[in-house]
Amino acid sequence: MKTLKIAVLVSGNGSNLQVLIEHMQSGKLPIKIVAVISNKADAYALVRAKNANIATFVIDKNEQGKTYKRAQFEQLALHVLKPLGVDLVVLAGFMKILTPLFINGVKDGLNASMINLHPSLLPSYKGLDTHARVLQSGERYHGCSVHLVTAKLDAGQILSQAVLEIHPNDTPATLQNRVHALEHMLLPCTIDFIVRGVIDVDNVGDAYRFWGQ
Ligand code: GRF
Repeated sequence: MKTLKIAVLVSGNGSNLQVLIEHMQSGKLPIKIVAVISNKADAYALVRAKNANIATFVIDKNEQGKTYKRAQFEQLALHVLKPLGVDLVVLAGFMKILTPLFINGVKDGLNASMINLHPSLLPSYKGLDTHARVLQSGERYHGCSVHLVTAKLDAGQILSQAVLEIHPNDTPATLQNRVHALEHMLLPCTIDFIVRGVIDVDNVGDAYRFWGQ
């Protein structure tokens, strides 16, 4: 089985990155994380990557201390990725919206796929603050999704989902913790399915659904 070369884009804590690092180090997943790119210089995910001797790239502020404009960020990120020969770009807690410049650059320029991890049962609850919104709406179920990245926010083809039942005493914080635990299972599992050809990213069938707690 081929080893999948992966780049992970992050903005924050990076607990999902950590899970991928551990799966790589233990040999549970045939992946090699060749780069971690962050749009935030203080993202803890960068510490996790450095501890694992993974190359890190911060694309945050320019020499004048101004945050890079979206197009500049995307061009620089593509420049970083180009020589690395990545097969898959994983957005794991990456909080910047990407435009077709980057999305097509990855697909056509790098010939790679790109997936995003989102904390809701898509297509419901795209965007931010999903846990609070789900509770406000009185939903019975919540969870997380892994989907292909397209130019429409959180709207690409869904590859997999993990579902939990909401408890009467759940708060946004308890839901966030429980969804995070599901994400830590769902992301490596989905990548495993991609590596083994169970999921064909060029010809996606029905999404795989898992039940969690
Ligand atoms: C996750 O909930 C993910 O779904 C969302 O951002 C969070 C990232 O968590 N996109 P972490 O940085 O991996 O801990």
